Amino acid sequence: YFMGIDLGTSAVKCILVDDSGQVIGSHSVEYPLQQPHPGWAEQHPEDWWNATVKGIRALLEKTSVAGEAVAGIGFSGQMHGSVFLDEAQQVIRPALLWCDQRTAEQCAYIESTVGEAELGRLTGNRALTGFTAPKVIWLRQHEPENYARVRHLLLPKDYVRLRLTGAFGMDMADASGTLLLDVAHRSWSQTVTERLDIPMEWLPPLYESGDVAGQLLPEAASLTGLAAGTKVVAGGGDQACGAVGVGVVRQGIASVALGTSGVVFVHDDTYQVDEAYRLHSFCHGVPGKWHRMGVMLAAGGSFQWWRNHFAHEELERAQQEGKDVYEILTSAAATAPLGSEGLLFLPYLSGERTPHPDPKARGAFIGLNLRHEKAHLTRAVLEGITFGLRDSLQLIRESGIEVTELRVNGGGARSTFWRQMIADIFGIPVVTVNSTDGPAYGAAIMAASGVLQEDIATLCEKWIHVTDRAEPNVDNQKQYEAYYQIYRSLYGTLQNTFH
Ligand code: XUL
Repeated sequence: YFMGIDLGTSAVKCILVDDSGQVIGSHSVEYPLQQPHPGWAEQHPEDWWNATVKGIRALLEKTSVAGEAVAGIGFSGQMHGSVFLDEAQQVIRPALLWCDQRTAEQCAYIESTVGEAELGRLTGNRALTGFTAPKVIWLRQHEPENYARVRHLLLPKDYVRLRLTGAFGMDMADASGTLLLDVAHRSWSQTVTERLDIPMEWLPPLYESGDVAGQLLPEAASLTGLAAGTKVVAGGGDQACGAVGVGVVRQGIASVALGTSGVVFVHDDTYQVDEAYRLHSFCHGVPGKWHRMGVMLAAGGSFQWWRNHFAHEELERAQQEGKDVYEILTSAAATAPLGSEGLLFLPYLSGERTPHPDPKARGAFIGLNLRHEKAHLTRAVLEGITFGLRDSLQLIRESGIEVTELRVNGGGARSTFWRQMIADIFGIPVVTVNSTDGPAYGAAIMAASGVLQEDIATLCEKWIHVTDRAEPNVDNQKQYEAYYQIYRSLYGTLQNTFH
């Protein structure tokens, strides 16, 4: 068996997969998120550790699998979070997470110190508040006594791997989100670390995602129920693992992850950057490959907002009839005509990252008239989210990558109506696959790759297959194209009204 562990933002999810790629069990353990000030988001690494130990133990018990039967473990994790350790490998302060927004000033400092163009060329990205390097600069400026004690910098899952194996390490996919990696050369950037005066010695050895990065310590074995010496691979950030988990491991295949945020992710055989760095360019979890992605902040989040505040009747009906409220809402949306009779929705409820890196961007309904009913508004929300995702696809296309198949995953992927809408708006076949365990499944594939010495891409081909395919409808595609062009113009038109 192989174990995949996804250290998420709200919980850690552990799964066990057998030798044929079948998931035989899963167990999640939650932990809290601290928000000591508005815009701050922190977690205690000790909570991750305790939850992971508990999760592994519970999963082994639940599945009656002996610890010795687990041949390898792979990690996926929430990206960008900063774990600061001292000389004795003790955690200095709670980790600042990917969703922490306190570092706008530090981002400006990084762009001016390294140079925006140089930073983009080397790291494939602009300095964004969620990334790791700005958090290090924040610590230096705001907590100098803590900063003086730092000897190691790790990302969340790498800290848990350190506790399990005693070995420092980080995979290149997750390291790409630190803003300290030379993404083209898959090594720490001398230039960026020097200009920011961040000691290179703090940074761990780098691995490809399927490389064995350590072996289980006897103490960790007795805590978890696993066997001492079990191989632990480096794994990857949750986006790379999620993509591997649905088989986005070849040129031409992209994925859309429809969670709270929406991520359009595409495999790249070579390192490419978008001129204005609107897309993130990162190392992929597939050795020697890269990926680009566009991140929309409120995809499923916009639909959830609509459900929470404007769907009381539907929520009641769902409870009475034992149905899924999202299904009730999407069925109603399907009764409104394509284009919602001219109504458009802007999904920037949390500001935006791609294609408009603008924390001040806001949502809007444009084009309301007296004929519009709730079904039109619900449909407009879904169409607006999908147009927003199309913006990311557009950037990917403009950079010269041809996408021939889109694999959808995450909560939003359950709706046939929405999947067809994505196919029509993107003009690409949209498929679903048999694996639905997301990043944890990708992490299990990486573990199998490290232990069996088999390619990640080959394993994906063996274990993952298409279960449903929606072809774009040519008529719908044409009509949506016209609405999309209007949608695209709205951000620029309304930008001055966001405050
Ligand atoms: C990626 C990103 C998210 C977090 C969420 O850039 O910020 O995927 O890793 O878990």
